[in-house]
Amino acid sequence: MSDGGHAWWEDAVVYEVYPRSFADAGGDGVGDLPGLRSRLGYLADLGVDAIWLTPFYPSPLADGGYDVSDYRAVDPRLGTMADFDHLVGDAAARRIRIIVDLVPNHCSSAHPLFRAALAAPPGRPERDLFIFRDGRGPGGGQPPNNWPSQFGGSAWTRVPDGQWYLHLFDTSQPDWNWRHPDVPAMFRDVIRFWLDRGVAGLRVDVAHGLFKDPGLPDVVGVHPLNGPAPYRHRPELHALYQSWRAILDSYPAGGFPGSRTAIGEVWYDAPGTLRPYLATDGLPQVFNFQLILAGWQQAAFRGAIDAALAVASGSRAPWVMGNHDVPRPASRYRLDEGFTPEMIEQLIALGDRNAETGARRARAAALVLLALPGSAYIYQGEELGLPEVTDIPAGARQDPRFRRTGGKSAGRDGCRVPLPWARNGASFGFSGGSGPWGPGYPRESRVSPRASIALTSDGASPSAPWLPQPPEWGKYSVESQLADEHSFLNLYRAALRLRRDHPALGRGTLRWLESGDPGLLCFARDPGFVLAANFGPAPAPLPAHREILLASEPVTAGLLPPDTAAWLSA
Ligand code: GLC
Repeated sequence: MSDGGHAWWEDAVVYEVYPRSFADAGGDGVGDLPGLRSRLGYLADLGVDAIWLTPFYPSPLADGGYDVSDYRAVDPRLGTMADFDHLVGDAAARRIRIIVDLVPNHCSSAHPLFRAALAAPPGRPERDLFIFRDGRGPGGGQPPNNWPSQFGGSAWTRVPDGQWYLHLFDTSQPDWNWRHPDVPAMFRDVIRFWLDRGVAGLRVDVAHGLFKDPGLPDVVGVHPLNGPAPYRHRPELHALYQSWRAILDSYPAGGFPGSRTAIGEVWYDAPGTLRPYLATDGLPQVFNFQLILAGWQQAAFRGAIDAALAVASGSRAPWVMGNHDVPRPASRYRLDEGFTPEMIEQLIALGDRNAETGARRARAAALVLLALPGSAYIYQGEELGLPEVTDIPAGARQDPRFRRTGGKSAGRDGCRVPLPWARNGASFGFSGGSGPWGPGYPRESRVSPRASIALTSDGASPSAPWLPQPPEWGKYSVESQLADEHSFLNLYRAALRLRRDHPALGRGTLRWLESGDPGLLCFARDPGFVLAANFGPAPAPLPAHREILLASEPVTAGLLPPDTAAWLSA
């Protein structure tokens, strides 16, 4: 603990960077660590406390880097270990912490230990690090059980000698056998390796997975989407997370980066499922996906917030409304429903309709999120109001979910399209070495920066971005938005500044205020702060207040327009 007995992560605003899509310094069309390093000034001005960096490790990139072939190295396409160390150092100089992604459920089929397992005959100890079994039926030609891959199809793949191996995700992502002592020992070393390099924490991928029912029984009846299953939410997880907590707590809590956190990605059917993960000696934090699951209705938002707060504080279970796995909020809120895996198909069918409504609601939702007690996560591009890109040509799609469902699901590429930095130019400033957001990026800049210099360090023209950007991407660019005082970006910057300064915001509690209007969501934070958000179809009178601190749309005559939120001082 630090900061008067509180850990920094209890009210941190953490910015998720999907490095391949953030900024490309090398000019090969793929974002990289030097690109991220060159934009730290942008993130400091935005006002974030930490960066969660999704995988940057060597990987065949069959699942965007969540197929790791070496847990202790940097993918040469994204940089070097020296680049990583410089990134941590430069970020620290701006008081920004780095959280790295730990992918313990599975590795890549290119990992040397999986290659060794494949090379070894059935029954050899090399295979025990993974989950190999004989098949069922005549000649063992059927998978050992009926478990599904999260990306479609069976969770088992057969190897030439006739055995099958388990992969809850893509066939290129074999699951580790967490019952083999070498696996937890290896990951303890990996955790220490990154903490020793100065990272402030870990985001734990598929934290509900890892252990499987040892009998590998069939799932009976309907496969639960996120509920308990023989491969999800196993009780053995909790002793493992206690052992990780002990490692985290062995690092000094004082100074910078201060006490180390780990935040589990736990998808659940009901928030109560989070309870065991939140034991005081377990993972410091788990994501709270309630606001992703909630549709755009007052009752849904209030219910989601209450349901989360009933099991956890927002410090232990940070708020999040988007990430690299779900359609972007500005598009999601074009619909009234909450997120489901089928939502991407609904959005594709919707075309351009309701775009303005979606964007208004996303601005309002951001003010709700950032006013809630505890910590909040922002996914890169949310601060620009980027929409989901729904028309990526099939030939350009990369997500294994698209491939494994034979194109039935469009997958998750639409929220991973490289960011637009400049209004014009090839790749809208995404590729191009030292642009105006480089080390010289002016602090607190409110003026339009110079046009981006879209050249690589050796003067060559950059390659096209790894996923195509829509032609209208320039209007969402950082450059365009810095020049517009009413932009999404300036709303986020103002909100983060206020959140940092206002004594009521950050960790703490909330009190619901009843307005009598079923469309109006109102809560108070002490001292002297009120949030009001209008989900209804008509303008609603603002609750009692002294001053409007910030609003997602203009507010006149004391009336809060539909799909608008305001921060008030009371
Ligand atoms: C997590 C990641 C997702 C990845 C999956 C398999 O859900 O967020 O992007 O595909 O794990 O590693």
